[in-house]
Amino acid sequence: TRDSEQGLRTPIVAVLGHVDHGKTSLLDKIRGSTVIEGEAGAITQHIGATAIPLDVVSKVAGSLIDPSDFDLPGLLFIDTPGHHSFTTLRSRGGALADIAILVVDVNDGFQPQTLEAISILKQSQTPFVVAANKIDTIPGWKPNEDAPVQQTKEAQSDRANSKLDEELYEIIGELSDEGFSADMYWRVQDFRGNIGVVPVSAETGEGIPDLLTVLMGLAQRYMKEDMAIDVTGPGAGTVLEVKEEKGFGTTLDVVLYDGTIREDETIVVGGLDEPIVTDVRAILKPRPLAEIRTEDRFEKVEEIAAASGVKIAAPDLGKAMAGAPVRVVRDRDIEEVIAEVRAEL
Ligand code: GTP
Ligand code: MG
Repeated sequence: TRDSEQGLRTPIVAVLGHVDHGKTSLLDKIRGSTVIEGEAGAITQHIGATAIPLDVVSKVAGSLIDPSDFDLPGLLFIDTPGHHSFTTLRSRGGALADIAILVVDVNDGFQPQTLEAISILKQSQTPFVVAANKIDTIPGWKPNEDAPVQQTKEAQSDRANSKLDEELYEIIGELSDEGFSADMYWRVQDFRGNIGVVPVSAETGEGIPDLLTVLMGLAQRYMKEDMAIDVTGPGAGTVLEVKEEKGFGTTLDVVLYDGTIREDETIVVGGLDEPIVTDVRAILKPRPLAEIRTEDRFEKVEEIAAASGVKIAAPDLGKAMAGAPVRVVRDRDIEEVIAEVRAEL
């Protein structure tokens, strides 16, 4: 995930929603892998990060996207667990994100963790789209693999279509109860003031081209209008996980949301008692489309720019904490950086 020529960094997209509503399956469909099969009980227990380069995004979106319209390098997706016990992981993921996908099972509608996700998104003022997932389970639905929504809707019976619309309007109503003005995505002009609802199926791929198109549009506008992003300054990130890694000792899985980090640089990491000051021994990068959680073959790199999911190997990380800030010191006063990290704990 390199920064683009214009200096727009890769937008971070959090995937939030109730347990089993299809967050991991959606990402699997997009990246064409099957992380879901490696998971205990198919429940996502940890946040993972997946980089999807622009060429893959535009391949999946097909005719809906013209890649020359975008100067973003791609999208960095953060999967989060829907199980009720993982509130901290969800808010960590939500707070990190530039934009988000709220996944809602089209038949189940809003559930407790859907509402919790909405309150995280409200609090962090994160723009989001709703993916109304599992449209293939609408009675009488005739799947059209990987088709855009309008195309597959035209091929459905009136009965299947009106059942789908009924469920979608229920979701729109529930969003309205939460204080959001929402509509079918194809009727939304301004995605910041209105929430677009995109019907999708992680199973058949229907609507995925639409979802990616809406996300790219949202990311492009949001990143340009509101964010002065520094992709060259000293790195800033958040620890997702602290893990033992064979040959490296204790390592950190980090989402780098700002700046760069280089081998041998001094970093300050939030720790159990005190901020930890240490030197980066290795930066390990998951290959594009790889999943940081299950991928054990990392590429060693000298430097990496935001936004990325990276593994950092360094001494003295025993007391590092998930959720804690990571800061590269570089040419700043180390005491100031330590104070900054302490303030965030
Ligand atoms: P947690 O990580 O536990 O919160 O769940 P999740 O939201 O990641 O859901 P997951 O992707 O694990 O999917 C849950 C179940 O729903 C799995 O059995 C999937 O195969 C199924 N599923 C997901 N999306 C679809 C879909 O679009 N259509 C159908 N028919 N099944 C789906
Ligand atoms: Mg999952």
